[in-house]
Amino acid sequence: MTLRLQDVDLLDGDTFVKGPPHHIFRLLRQEAPVFWHRDPEGGGFWVLTKYEDLVQASMDTATFSSAKGITLATMEFFPSQNLMMITSDPPWHTKLRRLVSTGFTPRMVNRLEPDIRRMVNQLLDAAIAKGECDFVTEVAAELPLQVIARFLGVPHEDRHKIFQWSNKILGAGDPEYGGIVIEKPPETEEEIQALIEEFRRVIAGAAMEMAAYLSRLEEERLREPKEDLVTTYLHAEVDGEKLSTLERHAQFVLLAVAGNETTRNLISGGLLALTEHPEQLELLRNDLSLMATAVEEMLRYVSPVMYMRRTVTRDTEFRGVPMKAGDRISMWYISANRDEDVFPEPDAFIVTRQPNDHVAFGAGGPHFCLGAALARLEARILFEELLSRPYQVEIIGPVERMRSNFINGIKHMPVRFRRLSR
Ligand code: HEM
Repeated sequence: MTLRLQDVDLLDGDTFVKGPPHHIFRLLRQEAPVFWHRDPEGGGFWVLTKYEDLVQASMDTATFSSAKGITLATMEFFPSQNLMMITSDPPWHTKLRRLVSTGFTPRMVNRLEPDIRRMVNQLLDAAIAKGECDFVTEVAAELPLQVIARFLGVPHEDRHKIFQWSNKILGAGDPEYGGIVIEKPPETEEEIQALIEEFRRVIAGAAMEMAAYLSRLEEERLREPKEDLVTTYLHAEVDGEKLSTLERHAQFVLLAVAGNETTRNLISGGLLALTEHPEQLELLRNDLSLMATAVEEMLRYVSPVMYMRRTVTRDTEFRGVPMKAGDRISMWYISANRDEDVFPEPDAFIVTRQPNDHVAFGAGGPHFCLGAALARLEARILFEELLSRPYQVEIIGPVERMRSNFINGIKHMPVRFRRLSR
C-alpha cells in the first residue's frame, strides 16, 4: 500500500516498535519537509525532517525555545520552566551548563579511559565466559550505567536503581519498562485521561523515588564530600545563590537519564548494524584504526535520540511556511541523518564514511549534547575490546525494541560468542 502523508502517525509507539520508520521520513523529506502533524489530544505540531532546517532551528534559540519542554509526550518527563539545562534557554541555560561543563570536555573525559577500559573488559570477560548473554542488559546497558554512576557519585551497588528509574522515566510508554499494558487503545475522553494519569503516576513515582534516594546521598556528602557531581551541585552557586533542592535534583535526574539510555542504544544499535553488515564488521576488525569513523557512522545510522522538541516564541516563517508563536516543532535527527542532500548513500552503513557531520548529538547551538565526548569514548573502547578478541558475535534470538518515538531503543538482544578459528 502506498504511504500517504495523511496516514503519517509519529505519536504512536507502534510506528516505531519494529524499528525507525525510515520510509515515512523519506516521504516527509521529499514531499513535506515542514509538515503539520495532528495531535489527537488537540492541535498539532510541526515535523522538521531536513538536515539544514534542523541546524537553522537549533541555532536560533530566540525563536525556538526549549523552556516549554523538549518532547511531544503528553506527560513531559523532563520538567520544563528552566529547571534543567535541557529545558531552559540562554542566559539561564548557560549558567546551569557552566556548573558541570568543565567535567565533560574531551580532555577531562579522556582521563577516564583506563577506568572505562577496565569496566569494559570485566563486562566482556563475564559475558564471553557464559558463551551467551543478553547483550543489552549485560553489556550495553551496564557500561554507561557504571560510568554515569561513578560521575554522579552513586555507589556501584545502587546503580540498578538508576537503571530502573531511568527506564521508567524515558520508557513509560513501553509495557516492560513502564508496567502499563494497553489492552485496547483508549477511545473515550475518560479513557484517555485515565491513561494519562497512569503515565503520570509511573513517571512521577520514579522521579520521586529518585529524589528521595538523592536526598539521602546528599546528607552523606554533606558529612563527607567526594569528587562527584552530588557534591559539586551541593556547593554550586549561580549568581551568588545556591541551587534549590528541586534544581539540584533536576540536574541529577537529567544526567542520570541522558547518560544512560542514549549510550546504551548506540552500543546495541551499533553492534546490530555491524552484524547486519558483515563486510563492514570484517573491515573494522582487520583495522581497528577505523574505529573513530565507525563510531561516528554508528551514531548517524542509529540516531539513539530520534527527535527533540522546541516551542515557537514569535510568529515566523520556515521554508515559506508560516508558524505561530506557541506552535510546537519537532526536529527529527533520525531523518536528517539520512538526508540524501547531505549524505551519499544515506541508508548504507559505511564504517569509513567521511565526512560525516551527523546530528545525532543535536544540530548545533547551545544544547549540543554535553556528554558527546563521554559517549564516543565508551563506544570506542567497547568496540575496540570486543573486536580485538577472537570471537564472532552472533545474534541468536529476537531483537526486542522499545516502544518509543523518542529513543531508538533495543531492550533485549540475545547473542552467542563463537570462537574464531583463525
Ligand atoms: C550516544 C549517546 C548520546 C546521544 C545520541 C545524545 C544525544 C543528545 C541530544 C540529541 C541532545 C539534545 C541536543 C539539542 O537539543 O540540541 C543531548 C543533550 C544532552 N545530553 Fe546527550 N546524548 C548522548 C549521551 C549523553 C551522555 C553520556 C550524557 C552525560 C552524561 C549526556 C548528557 C546530555 C545533556 C546534559 C544534554 C543537555 C545539554 C544542554 O541542554 O545544554 N548525553 N544529547
